[in-house]
Amino acid sequence: MSDLTNKVVLVTGASRGIGRALAEGLAEHGADVVICDLPREEQGLNEAKSAIEKLGRKCWVFGADITDKSAVENMVAQATEQAGQIDVLVNNAGILKPSLLEDLSEGDWDAHFAVNGKGLLFVTNAVLPQMRQRKNGRIINIASIAARQGVPTQGHYAATKATAVTLTRVYAQETGMDGITVNAICPGIILTEMGKNNLGSEEAINHWKEVAALKRLGEPSDIVGPAVFFASDLSAFVTGQALNVCGGIYFH
Ligand SMILES: NC(=O)c1ccc[n+]([C@@H]2O[C@H](COP(=O)([O-])OP(=O)(O)OC[C@H]3O[C@@H](n4cnc5c(N)ncnc54)[C@H](O)[C@@H]3O)[C@@H](O)[C@H]2O)c1
Repeated sequence: MSDLTNKVVLVTGASRGIGRALAEGLAEHGADVVICDLPREEQGLNEAKSAIEKLGRKCWVFGADITDKSAVENMVAQATEQAGQIDVLVNNAGILKPSLLEDLSEGDWDAHFAVNGKGLLFVTNAVLPQMRQRKNGRIINIASIAARQGVPTQGHYAATKATAVTLTRVYAQETGMDGITVNAICPGIILTEMGKNNLGSEEAINHWKEVAALKRLGEPSDIVGPAVFFASDLSAFVTGQALNVCGGIYFH
């Protein structure tokens, strides 16, 4: 039931980090993969494509900024034409630039909501019509445990991730009648470029390792299993949910 053979998955923000691990991990489970990221991330996208093709799966690469509605619509139209269809969407692209709320610039507030909120909306709305037509689809939104409890210097980011969880619940209710499930994954601290920049120091890494029930922080590959669950028939009766994948640093 976890087999994704003959499924096409679109992963945003897939040139590195969690998105790349998801693109490659879902390909390992049989999926062909459309990957997208900002045009400047071409090198990482091409490396991911090579890795996916080495697994014997097909891969299509697109440079698109998900905050640009027409770029998103073009990408989804071209990807659908080339790949045939998009069965699973993983809204993974995101940004985090830490700041105390009192110091936060208007530009940074807008930028976080543009990528982490509006971008999710644009990509989802571009993919939904074909899923509705086929009466089948899986959408996975990468939120964060920050959505559960904001932490200092991440108030704006946490607000965007709470938005992603709320959109997950509403999309689930608005699309379930067409056989589409929409779920969120809330990663804890994952050691990607974003995760390491955010922690800042070896001391902070060690502190959070000690806090975690599993006494380690996450690797991007730790998100693959939950994504396979939400992408496959294993989760056929699960929708509108948000799953913490955090090694036990948050429990609600
Ligand atoms: N790393 C963590 O600890 C952690 C924890 C919780 C949630 N998350 C979430 O997981 C997702 C992936 O994070 P990551 O740690 O791999 O970060 P990352 O910074 O390594 O990767 C994010 C990717 O998104 C892409 N991206 C950014 N803006 C974009 C845009 N406008 N259009 C297209 N692509 C864009 C980036 O180029 C990058 O490749 C994000 O949504 C992040 O908020 C990460």
